[in-house]
Amino acid sequence: MDHGIKKVGVIGSGQMGGGIAQVAAVNGFETVVYDLSADAIARCEGLHDKLLSRAIDKGRMSEDDVKATKGNLTYVTDMSYLDDADIVIEAVVEDLDVKKKIFSGLAEKFTDNQILASNTSSISITALATSVGDAADRFIGMHFFNPVPVMKLVEVINGLATSEETTKRTIALAEAMGKVAVPANDRAGFVSNRILMPMINEAFYAWMEGVAEPEHIDEIMKLGMAHPMGPLRLADFIGLDTCVHIMDVLAEGLNNDRYRACPLLKQLVVAGRLGNKTGRGVFDYSK
Ligand code: CAA
Ligand code: NAD
Repeated sequence: MDHGIKKVGVIGSGQMGGGIAQVAAVNGFETVVYDLSADAIARCEGLHDKLLSRAIDKGRMSEDDVKATKGNLTYVTDMSYLDDADIVIEAVVEDLDVKKKIFSGLAEKFTDNQILASNTSSISITALATSVGDAADRFIGMHFFNPVPVMKLVEVINGLATSEETTKRTIALAEAMGKVAVPANDRAGFVSNRILMPMINEAFYAWMEGVAEPEHIDEIMKLGMAHPMGPLRLADFIGLDTCVHIMDVLAEGLNNDRYRACPLLKQLVVAGRLGNKTGRGVFDYSK
């Protein structure tokens, strides 16, 4: 099916929004990235410049391709630039209320053909879609993986009211962005984080209970299970705040205490040690 998408709007220019925008622009889509923070937008543009220059140095992209990609990208702090996008992909903090507020604002302006997608890691698509009224048939979960330019998967999640046409167009878009789309049902954490996040949480319990030092926990999982990163390093990479949000959604959505976030994980977040994005999480990245 033809996705019929020319212009992609991305809300949130953090590690996921920035990556989604980059991949959309590289693949020829007119792309507008919006963030309420001017600093975040500037960081996103700076990171794109750095990654695209590196792609030239490594011979993965020509100078002309990079020029075209940059020409496809617009960075804004005014949300009205998204009004005529064919799809908006939201990638802000993993918080139901924040996301619902954004989508209810969009739904007031969005007409028949425009798709509303969330990159949520774990929150119910059906619950998010309650914020868009009649547009619920055009609402869908489009879950990318970090780092977006490298990871092949997009987990596609239908809400209760998502139309077949919306699903087909979203899958076609994911493929046009060079990704493999795999469906999952709308349950807390979907497939990916239902399985990944309890493993990460358990690694924090293992550390808290003195089973091993963080470096050793990671080394055991890397060398023993052939994981590219140990679970604690991966938690820093994802963002410890995001990990806590996802565990909270799992604990509530699956109604089981075994999903409660490890107190040590929560303590690091309270201390502002969020991982790579703040320079320190489990490990120190300041150097
Ligand atoms: N953006 C763009 N490209 C990046 C990147 C980034 N942030 N980080 C790394 N890369 C690229 C590098 O440029 C490099 O490409 P080239 O070989 O073409 O130069 C390639 O990735 C490999 O990078 P490195 O050699 O620097 O490092 P590496 O071999 O250790 O790989 C990694 C880095 C790809 C991140 C790898 O460690 C990995 O796969 N880690 C696991 C990632 C993972 O599990 N992600 C899923 C997280 S869960 C999630 O996303 C869902 C959720 O809801 C929480
Ligand atoms: P992040 O903290 O790196 O970025 C979030 C961005 O959203 C920030 O730039 C912030 O300024 C912006 N923002 C916050 N509220 C906003 C609002 N109301 N309007 C516009 N912008 C706003 O977070 P992230 O890691 O990019 O995660 C974003 C989303 O993607 C979350 O839902 C997360 O669960 C999901 N996700 C994260 C990962 C991951 O590995 N980090 C992977 C897949 C999905």
